Amino acid sequence: MNIHYILSNKITKALHSFGAPKECNALVVRQISKKHIDYQANGIINAAKKMNICPQELAKKVISKLNLKDIVSKIEISGKGFINIKLNSFWIAKQAEKALINNKLGISKIKPEIIIIDYSSPNIAKQMHVGHLRSTIIGDAMARTLEFIGHKVIRANHIGDWGTHFGMLIAYLEKLQNKNYNNFLLTNLDEFYKKAKKKYDEDENFAKKSRMYVVKLQSGDKYCIEMWQKLVNITIEQNQKIYYRLNITLTKNDIMGESLYKDMLPEIISDLKSKGIAIENNGAIVVFLDDFKNKHGKTMGVIIQKKDGAFLYTTTDIACIKYRYEKLHANRLLYYIDSRQHQHLIQAWTIAKKANYIPDSIKLEHHMFGMILNKDKKPFKTRSGTTISLTSLLDEAIKRAKNIIYKKKPNINKRNLSYLSNIIGIGAIKYSDLSKNRITNYIFNWDNMLSFNGNTAPYMQYAYTRIASIFKKGNIKKKELTLPIFLNSSYEIALATRLIQFEETIFLVANEGTPHIMCSYLYDIAGLFSKFYENCPILSEKNKNQRQSRLKLALLTQKTLKIGLDTLGIKTVNNM
Ligand code: ARG
Repeated sequence: MNIHYILSNKITKALHSFGAPKECNALVVRQISKKHIDYQANGIINAAKKMNICPQELAKKVISKLNLKDIVSKIEISGKGFINIKLNSFWIAKQAEKALINNKLGISKIKPEIIIIDYSSPNIAKQMHVGHLRSTIIGDAMARTLEFIGHKVIRANHIGDWGTHFGMLIAYLEKLQNKNYNNFLLTNLDEFYKKAKKKYDEDENFAKKSRMYVVKLQSGDKYCIEMWQKLVNITIEQNQKIYYRLNITLTKNDIMGESLYKDMLPEIISDLKSKGIAIENNGAIVVFLDDFKNKHGKTMGVIIQKKDGAFLYTTTDIACIKYRYEKLHANRLLYYIDSRQHQHLIQAWTIAKKANYIPDSIKLEHHMFGMILNKDKKPFKTRSGTTISLTSLLDEAIKRAKNIIYKKKPNINKRNLSYLSNIIGIGAIKYSDLSKNRITNYIFNWDNMLSFNGNTAPYMQYAYTRIASIFKKGNIKKKELTLPIFLNSSYEIALATRLIQFEETIFLVANEGTPHIMCSYLYDIAGLFSKFYENCPILSEKNKNQRQSRLKLALLTQKTLKIGLDTLGIKTVNNM
């Protein structure tokens, strides 16, 4: 049950029925930590102003029209014309029961859409670095979230596996192989890339060969394709290991790299030319977009084919949109890419729309994100200034988690220690990213993310185990809980109210691509549970119905935490 939606919808409709202009909205907001109000409608005053009537009069009329008897226990006007709403605790209890017996916490059915999520998308022959971390973690949480509410999600790992630099990489791979590096694994991809580039810059013969290989590769030469495939496979193999460690759902089947679109590119160029969208300019093919001005106020040109015939990153993204719409039938496309690529994306989308490759009705959304920074607010790098590889970052997280756990539990056995430190260490890195509003930069801080206090993974995971231990301690079987939930104290009401707001939370996350909203929600739940647990005896409660009702609330809390953390890709354990 999406309470926020129901209230917004009913109040907005009532406003319109009294003649409020179309753009007027109930503006319902959830009220935090106010005992006598759960929601407030703030849009009445503005509507009344536009209608030139008294806001309180309008509010009165709206209230008289609303049919919210079951849901609401109190609805009244406050201040200049706000409407305050308090939910009915019997109704809350009923909703909580429904959530408890449903494996999706009772969320409403939706009309499924085909949603493509472009995320992670690292480059071939380079190691994944922290720059890809945010895209991978946030994109995956969104894939899980949208799938959970019933959409068909297509994960698109748009890897950088095509481009002129592959000539150089093939030539260098060949050189290494000739040196008898037959079984070689390229464990240090960055090193490989750097050395290839150095050779290319310093050795004219090598550069010549590299350029020849580019041409050959592009014309489908068997040897070059094989060498290219080798590089792709080695990189993918290494990335898959990282995904596995990070509990990321991307598989090899989700790879839809730049090379997938290469055969579409010549046709796109000629089509854009024939439609008059692209023109030749100094030998290159360029699209001039009126909406984009450069520093000097002149219309900006987007190059889609270079003088030498090479296509560009933008050309591929134009083809990619066409493909996603025509072949994959996407209804909505989400891109999890660094904010620095915003202009690039908007240009590609504008061109694709001009060319009618995708209709306006299809939602194109760039869910951008900021950078990860060091404590000194500079981009997150090693002390010597090089980028940090993800592998070493994950190793460090696990090592630190291990130390913390070991201090708390010196008697823990080795296997358990390693199991727990993986789940806590990896969870901490992911959660600390997910819990921040993605738009902003954030400072990477080991101590904060691994703390057992505050909005962190260890805190959430610990809260989960505490509830699990109640059931273990009392030896309670879920089946035994047959008596209904009833809400007595303010602690029970506050917890249950927040619990049944799961649906409006997950739909908000799904619409806006903001997993931090789910994190704050779960953090609230954990906090409200703590207060409830301190003030309302559970296992020691003598009254049977009271005891069962509280156990059910605990169970629903546990289930909500579990499902919520699952949608974020954060693992839980039963004890820690
Ligand atoms: N490979 C790119 C990079 O590492 C990201 C690709 C994002 N997706 C896209 N459709 N352009 O920066």
